[in-house]
Amino acid sequence: MVSLADFFSLRGRVALVTGASRGLGQAFAGALAEAGADLVIVSRHLGELGETAGAVRAHGREVLSLEADIRQEEAVREMVTRTVERFGRLDVLVNNAGTERQNLPPEQTSLESWKEVLDINLNGQFLCAREVGKVMIPRRAGKIINLASMSGMVINRYFHGGSYDVSKAAVVGLTKALAAEWAPYNLNVIALAPGYYGTAPNLRWFQGNPEIHRQVLDLIPLGRLGDLRELAALLVVLASEVSNYMTGSTVVIDGGYTLW
Ligand SMILES: NC(=O)c1ccc[n+]([C@@H]2O[C@H](COP(=O)([O-])OP(=O)(O)OC[C@H]3O[C@@H](n4cnc5c(N)ncnc54)[C@H](OP(=O)(O)O)[C@@H]3O)[C@@H](O)[C@H]2O)c1
Repeated sequence: MVSLADFFSLRGRVALVTGASRGLGQAFAGALAEAGADLVIVSRHLGELGETAGAVRAHGREVLSLEADIRQEEAVREMVTRTVERFGRLDVLVNNAGTERQNLPPEQTSLESWKEVLDINLNGQFLCAREVGKVMIPRRAGKIINLASMSGMVINRYFHGGSYDVSKAAVVGLTKALAAEWAPYNLNVIALAPGYYGTAPNLRWFQGNPEIHRQVLDLIPLGRLGDLRELAALLVVLASEVSNYMTGSTVVIDGGYTLW
C-alpha cells in the first residue's frame, strides 16, 4: 500500500513552472522543490530567475533556468526540448505565467491590448500545454496545472476586468477541453483559481488605494488576503499523486470571495 507520505511526495519528479521569477510562480517553484521535485523555471528574463533558482537549490534540488516567451511557438518547443534533454522526463507543468488586468473599461480597451492579454493568458497556456502534452502522452502520466483565477468565475468589484476576466474564464474552459482529450492517456489537467494574494503589485495597488483595500477586504468572507505559502502548499497537493483521480476540475482558493 502507498504510504500517505509517498502520496504527497514529489521526490524523483521534474516540474516546469512558467513565470517563476516572482509572485506566485516563485512561491510554487520553491514549494515544489521543498516537496522533492527538480525544477525547470522560466520567464522572459533569464537574469531575474536567480533568486528562485537559489531557493530551489537551498532545498537540495536541481534547477534549469530558461528564458522563453510563452507566446512564441518555437521558444516553447525549445523550452520543452531542453527540459527533456536535461532531465529525461517531465512530470508536472505549472502553467502560471500571466499578465495582470488592464483596469480599463471595455469602451476604452484597444483591440491591441485585448489581444495581448488573451495572447499571454490563454494562447500562451495552450502552447505550453500542447508541447508538454506531446512528452506526457507517450508516458501515460503527467499533471498540468493551469492558473485560472476567481476572476474566471465572477467579476471583481472596484476593478475593470474585461480581457483579464475573459482570459481566466477561458482557462477554465481550456482545462476542461484538455482534460477530456487527454484522460485516455492518463493525464490530469486541473485549474487553480486563486483570489487576492499579497503579491507585490497587489500590495502596491492597495497601499496607493487604502479605501479600495478596505472595500475589497469587506468582500472576502475570511477578511484577509491569501498567504502565498498556503497557496503553494495546495499547488503541491495538485502536483502530487493525491490528484490522480482529479481532472478537468477548477480548485478555488479565495477566502470565500465567490460565495457572495
Ligand atoms: N497575484 C494574485 O493575487 C493572483 C490571483 C489570481 C490569479 N493569479 C494568476 O497567477 C499567475 C501569476 O500571477 P502573479 O501575480 O504572480 O504575476 P506576476 O507577479 O506579474 O508574475 C508574472 C510572471 O510571469 C512571467 N511572464 C509574464 N509574461 C510572460 C510571457 N509572455 N512569457 C513568459 N513568462 C512571462 C513574468 O516574468 P517576465 O516578466 O520576466 O517574463 C513573471 O515571472 C497569473 O496567471 C495570474 O493571472 C494571480
